[in-house]
Amino acid sequence: MDRETVLVGIDAGTTIVTTLIGEVGRTGEVSIIGYGITPSAGMKKGMVANIDQTVNSIAASIEKAERLSGYKIGSAFVAVGGSHISSQNSRGVVAVSGHKREVSREDVARATDAAKAVQVPSNREILHVLPRGYIVDGQEGIKDPLGMSAVRLEVETHIVAGAATSVQNLSKCVTNANVQIDELVVNSLAAAEATLTDTEKELGVLIADIGGGTTDLAIFTDGAAYHTAVLPVGGINVTNDVAIGLRTSLDLAEEIKIKHGSADLSDVQPEELLNVAVLGEGGGQTIQRRKLCEVIEARMSEIYSLIGEEVKRSGHDGLLPAGVVLTGGGARLAGAAELAREVLQMPVRIASPQGVGGLMDQLSNPAFSTSIGLLLWGARHIGDEPMSYSTGAGGGAGVGRLMEWLRGLFPG
Ligand SMILES: Nc1ncnc2c1ncn2[C@@H]1O[C@H](COP(=O)(O)OP(=O)(O)OP(=O)(O)O)[C@@H](O)[C@H]1O
Ligand SMILES: [Mg+2]
Repeated sequence: MDRETVLVGIDAGTTIVTTLIGEVGRTGEVSIIGYGITPSAGMKKGMVANIDQTVNSIAASIEKAERLSGYKIGSAFVAVGGSHISSQNSRGVVAVSGHKREVSREDVARATDAAKAVQVPSNREILHVLPRGYIVDGQEGIKDPLGMSAVRLEVETHIVAGAATSVQNLSKCVTNANVQIDELVVNSLAAAEATLTDTEKELGVLIADIGGGTTDLAIFTDGAAYHTAVLPVGGINVTNDVAIGLRTSLDLAEEIKIKHGSADLSDVQPEELLNVAVLGEGGGQTIQRRKLCEVIEARMSEIYSLIGEEVKRSGHDGLLPAGVVLTGGGARLAGAAELAREVLQMPVRIASPQGVGGLMDQLSNPAFSTSIGLLLWGARHIGDEPMSYSTGAGGGAGVGRLMEWLRGLFPG
């Protein structure tokens, strides 16, 4: 196998670590040739809380994927999460250079650099600088300005940053597991790659990746990311509430939630009964299933309300005709879409990852949207100019490594 056509994605989530190995074909199609799914330890709310435990979980997941594929992983696209992630939009303006006054790649790069020169506190690290569109001599809505005759070029960018220490801790865990980082990709933007259609992004849509510890959000308008944020709540909060409400262990609460839980109370009859073990007592208790679902509904309503508040904060309240796309393991909860429609008053669909082939049997579910999205992100950027890559650590190591790899793919 030609090793240079292989991409790797690592999503170290709060509950599971997923490593995917994908082969990129000549026309850009991605086929999964290996995966490693392991329980996560050492992560809390999408952030590293214990280095050793996180390194061990990542290493275990890598080893599984390597064993399945027979491929030795050297570098990977890595998902970043946690509520330290925030975004802002910034415009960069330059005069078009060159005697012909035609927009060149260099002009685009300079405009992007100008946009990037926003005030970022030293404890924050820029993760992405994504062009949303260009304005050429005042003409708005240009997607590709290359070659256009112009005097003035403006670029509208979406900039995503995270806490430098959180980003460094995650990078450290991946490199300690002997894997270099091609690029750090924000969780929701990776998940969007595997779930959103071009039409949804064009119309205006919100993606919510409901994980164990966090709910990762991204709003797309006019075909590009506009607002990115992370809420520090997820499926683990639902499980905790169930454990407290039913006075049972966390493991059992998780099992009951998945097997019998629903966020849609209209679906639950008062006469439905469940038998549940009680902590510290020998026997079990019989409870109404409705009581379980009320606990779940309350927490899920809260998560959806927080999502609604974030939409308001972005200034897009009532302006997302394509509605909400729910993904992540938490979106597998029965009734998740029904309740979301009720709380958010928007169209809602649950999305499983799309757009890749190969060993997909275990991966065709919303819990793997982020990891599959990492491969699609990597594959989509293969032919790009370096400037369209978001910069890694201070514009540094990650990108250098990526350029090396790109040169391998496209010699000369
Ligand atoms: N069938 C299901 N029904 C309900 N909930 C489910 C189901 N499957 C998984 N979950 C929930 O999904 C959550 C895990 O989702 P996911 O694997 O996307 O999280 P993660 O990526 O590890 O965490 P994070 O993204 O927050 O760091 C858990 O809270 C789990 O209870
Ligand atoms: Mg996740």
